[in-house]
Amino acid sequence: MAQKYLFFSDGRFRDRAIGEIRSLFGASECRLDRSVRSDRFFAMDMDAPPQAALDTFARRQPILTYNMVPVVAELPYQDNGNSALAAALSSVLHTDRSFRLEAINIVSSSGENANSIETNTGRILETMGFRADLDTPQDFVYVVLFQKRIFIGLLSSGMKLNYRIDYFRHGANSGARKLKRAEFKLREALEYFNIDASRASLALDIGAAPGGWTAEISALGGRVIAVDNALLAYGSIKSRPLIVLASPDRAKETSDTIAQSSPGSAVTVVEDPDSVPGGFSVLHIRRRAQEIDAPLLAKFGRPDLLLVDANVEPETSAQLASRFADMLNNAATLILTVKLVDDNVDKHVKAVTKGIEGKYGGIMLKKLPHNRSELTLFARRL
Ligand SMILES: C[S@@+](CC[C@H](N)C(=O)[O-])C[C@H]1O[C@@H](n2cnc3c(N)ncnc32)[C@H](O)[C@@H]1O
Repeated sequence: MAQKYLFFSDGRFRDRAIGEIRSLFGASECRLDRSVRSDRFFAMDMDAPPQAALDTFARRQPILTYNMVPVVAELPYQDNGNSALAAALSSVLHTDRSFRLEAINIVSSSGENANSIETNTGRILETMGFRADLDTPQDFVYVVLFQKRIFIGLLSSGMKLNYRIDYFRHGANSGARKLKRAEFKLREALEYFNIDASRASLALDIGAAPGGWTAEISALGGRVIAVDNALLAYGSIKSRPLIVLASPDRAKETSDTIAQSSPGSAVTVVEDPDSVPGGFSVLHIRRRAQEIDAPLLAKFGRPDLLLVDANVEPETSAQLASRFADMLNNAATLILTVKLVDDNVDKHVKAVTKGIEGKYGGIMLKKLPHNRSELTLFARRL
């Protein structure tokens, strides 16, 4: 019996994502449903037993596809149809298992949006005896609106897939500070690759300006050495002491510019590496990464987290990661952005993987929602 699956991906990479799924499951197994294609998902009919397919998907972690959801029911879309929707959901949910409902509203013909569908339908389900649990649900149920159809998808938490499908709404700017794309990108990497950044005692952030990643890591409690020739937005970094190490010929210009651009931001500029106070929270070394050598870095400690978000070719990022590997703690974590400088995703993936081979293992790559034309690589220092 054929089963319909929705696959979620970034529209820019959809055709490649389709190719990726075909090569994962076998081209003859996957029949693309051409009537269901949006910027955020596509549908395939497949004959494979759902559990086996899901296991394969989870193990192989495809790079360009965010998630895979089996469609367990389909109904026509009606305005104000929360009761009809709740009735359909009640036939796929179980009263003895907790659920979390997530909706994606592709075409909003009424005033309804994904949030109101989740709230209103979730409430009706609770009055019917179903138990909502937003944090540790046993089942994830999805309501995907597409043109005049509603697809209902269901995943159980045991399937160990990343359950969020509405990545762009997740964590929307609701916190105290408005996050920039770079910061979302780092948060997504930490979450997807299961990295506890608060356990990193020292992070090395290569290509750090204007400082989004540095601000994020230091807000999580990590100390950071930021490396960039450009200045950071020091005012957005809250941890102190914040030290900038600039070469003697640029120290005055650095101080003057910071005083003008980030007045009152309590930044200390030093010229001599030996004058950097041991207890810094953030140290910005105003140099290119290639100018940092092991003796200089050793003065400040051995990082256990290396971040590379420099806007350079994938080969160069890999070279930088390799170069710093020997200066890191054992089993240090690497998060590196692979800039897709052209369309040839496979070529760049190969180049960067080959470039760090021997220095890092456990390599995984993912197109994260806030990656534009880039991928994020995770690895551990060998
Ligand atoms: C995309 S930005 C990084 C954004 C940063 N992660 C954030 O969250 O704000 C890329 C940065 O890489 C820096 N960069 C490029 N080549 C570099 C190199 N060889 N060494 C150090 N930084 C470099 C650029 O100066 C630029 O500031």
